[in-house]
Parts: sequence; structure tokens; C-alpha cells
Amino acid sequence: MLHKALVILHLLGAAAWIGGHIVLVLVVLPPALRARDTKAVLHFERGYGRVGLAALAIQIVTGSLLASKWLGGWGNILNFSVPAAHLVLAKLALLGVTLVHAGYAFHRLLPRLAAVHDTNGPAATSPLRRFALHAWITTMLAVLLLIVGASFRLGGIF
Ligand code: HEM
Repeated sequence: MLHKALVILHLLGAAAWIGGHIVLVLVVLPPALRARDTKAVLHFERGYGRVGLAALAIQIVTGSLLASKWLGGWGNILNFSVPAAHLVLAKLALLGVTLVHAGYAFHRLLPRLAAVHDTNGPAATSPLRRFALHAWITTMLAVLLLIVGASFRLGGIF
């Protein structure tokens, strides 16, 4: 029962994290880049920022508990005769890169977007492009986290 509740929470968190990033890169960013307008991006981040952070926190907590079950305890993380060990390591590596990218976008790039908020126009192009690049990388990492996650039950993708 607890395992089922953890999987459901993990899937809810994944839906919120991946869904939010897909809306950002496919719906919010393209017109913002065309118009060199930071407003829509800042507005989206003000609304989605907390939801995204909560979703990521849920993924880390539920993912760690699920990983411990699949491993038979964290002591087996480097025991490669346990089939789930390399999948958990892949998840942790992807999580690490995600935290670096998302943290950089949140703490460095968003304040730069806010700084050009009043000027917009050409001054906004470079910070917007850099933010878009990081948003795409974070989205791709999220999809990879989903694929590796599905591999636990599927016994691999190929
Ligand atoms: C944004 C981050 C993450 C996303 C989008 C994500 C997504 C997913 C998805 C979609 C599944 C498939 C669930 C199923 O088979 O029904 C899954 C499974 C899993 N994930 Fe994650 N995950 C994330 C972070 C993590 C983290 C940090 C860990 C910890 C190491 C983790 C550990 C696992 C485990 C152990 C499973 C297998 C659960 C099971 O089927 O019993 N995940 N993940």
C-alpha cells in the first residue's frame, strides 16, 4: 500500500515537473523570444516557480524511498549484482545535473531577466536566449529521468 502511494505521488510530481517545463519551452518561450519580451516568462516563473520546486522536492523524497526498496537498502547502491543499482545511479546523476541547471537558471538567469524587464527590446535577447537554452536542457533531463524511471518496471528500454 505504501509502495503504491509512493509511486502515485512520484508520478504526480513527475507530471507537474515535466508538464510545467513543456508549457514553458513550447508555449511561453517562443512568443517571448520573438517579441524579445521578458514579461510572460517572469509571470510564468512567479506562478509556476513554487509548484515546480514542490514537485522536485516530492520527486527527491518519494524517489529516495522507492530507490531504497528497489535496492534492498542504500548499502547496495554500488552492488551491481542488484539490477536496479545502475538505474538508481543514473537517476542520481541526472538529478545532480538538473539541480545545477535549474539552480543556475533560478538564481542567476531569472534576476538578469528581471533586470532587463523595463527595457525589453534588443537588451532582452541575450538573457532570454540563455534562459531558453537552460529551460530546454532541464526539460530534456526531466524526460530522461522519466525514461530511466520507467525502466525499473520495464527491465530496460531496449
Ligand atoms: C524530476 C525528477 C524525476 C522525474 C521526472 C521522475 C520520473 C519517474 C517516472 C515517470 C517513473 C515511472 C514510475 C512507474 O514506473 O510507474 C519513475 C520511477 C522511479 N523513480 Fe523517478 N523521477 C524523478 C526523480 C527521481 C529521483 C531523484 C529518484 C531517486 C533516486 C527516483 C527514483 C525512482 C525509482 C526508484 C523509480 C521506480 C519506482 C517503481 O516503479 O516502483 N526518481 N520516476
